[in-house]
Amino acid sequence: MPAASPARRPRVVLGVAGGIAAYKAVEVLRQLTESGHDVRVVPTDSALRFVGEPTWAALSGHPVSTGVWAGAAEVAHVSLGREADLVLVVPATADLLARAATGRADDLLTATLLTARCPVVFAPAMHTEMWEHPATRANVGTLRARGCVVIDPAVGRLTGADSGAGRLPAPAEIAALARAVLARAGSAANANGTGLAAGLMPDLTGYRFVISAGGTREHLDPVRFLGNSSSGRQGYALARAALSRGARVVVVAANVALPEVAGAHTVRVVSAVQLRAAVHAEAATAHVVIMAAAVADFRPVTRAAHKIKKSDGDPEPVALVRNPDILAELVAARQPGQLLVGFAAETGGPGADLLDLGREKLVRKGADLLVVNQVGDGLGFEVEDNAAVVLGSDGTETVIGRTSKDLLSHRVLDLVTARLAPADGSVIAVSDSTRR
Ligand code: C5P
Repeated sequence: MPAASPARRPRVVLGVAGGIAAYKAVEVLRQLTESGHDVRVVPTDSALRFVGEPTWAALSGHPVSTGVWAGAAEVAHVSLGREADLVLVVPATADLLARAATGRADDLLTATLLTARCPVVFAPAMHTEMWEHPATRANVGTLRARGCVVIDPAVGRLTGADSGAGRLPAPAEIAALARAVLARAGSAANANGTGLAAGLMPDLTGYRFVISAGGTREHLDPVRFLGNSSSGRQGYALARAALSRGARVVVVAANVALPEVAGAHTVRVVSAVQLRAAVHAEAATAHVVIMAAAVADFRPVTRAAHKIKKSDGDPEPVALVRNPDILAELVAARQPGQLLVGFAAETGGPGADLLDLGREKLVRKGADLLVVNQVGDGLGFEVEDNAAVVLGSDGTETVIGRTSKDLLSHRVLDLVTARLAPADGSVIAVSDSTRR
């Protein structure tokens, strides 16, 4: 592996297989080049029947070939994979998954997949029947077991009038997932000064996460509610980070206006009571639950069936009742080995030390980790950056300085993974991420 300068542009190989969703890969390419990535496009022959070579070459700024015979002097079938920081296949068809799973090397893309030693992400798109066929399930299982990230396709409209599982997620979200993979590699590289760390393979394969995000709304009447300004960005960034490390992720989203995270299964809720039902249902089979949602502590005792009118007379004080503490309930009903993570968004304030509040909350709730973050002043809710101190029930305190929500998510997941791993390191055997 040639030594790389930490400042060089991350290198992405964008593999494109022959499915109608190839046209959406053009937008993924555009997004990645615009965010400063050096992208080499490697289409299959059939991908070129959907989108032609000039499009890929013009938008990537690199020559494009599909076979191993062109430019033999550069030994592209070896060098592309070796030099990449990420190989991203969009769309991955049933045929491409089958060829990758069996280790074929009959074109430039499959040869590149065999030589790559960096993270590999497949974004499948196909008809529901093909996605659900036992052969495809087996191929996906094989690729995941080898340490590749194979995201689940979205459910929605397919090529014709039909709809179901098999739709390619939104291109911008696939690009965001790619950036999440590279953010982790980039942060490790900065820590050890070696340039992008191609060896940072998924370490959460086989784990199931439930992540709540956003803020609940407690309705007074059909149009008015008590709510908060949580955007869901931190929860979504955590979901992306976990997916980029191979986890299966269910997002329980309370009033989040952001596009759905590519590869996650999103359950939408409005109120704390709905969020509670959804989180408990999903938590029954989850290894990790991260409560990043801002859950209202109180809700109105009654919800008027019709909009409350001025003519109804002077306003009555709103009577409130306490919402259940979902995190504390999860702790009480904890599955064996399950890890529970809370968030404590605080503004601090006179006489209120953030960490003292956090420590008290960690003990009161009984979570394994509590991410204490200051909100307001350009941090926390509705902004791109965040900073936090992560308190562990084992007495640890980890300071995460102001950084992107993507990177903060990876730092939190590093702490989660360390607690998931048994002392004998057998988690490595579960994720089996070193072989391809
Ligand atoms: O007590 P506080 O609301 O500050 O606690 C924040 C943490 O507890 C967050 O992880 C939040 O998702 C969770 N929470 C909860 N149920 C509530 C209130 C908060 O699970 N009713």
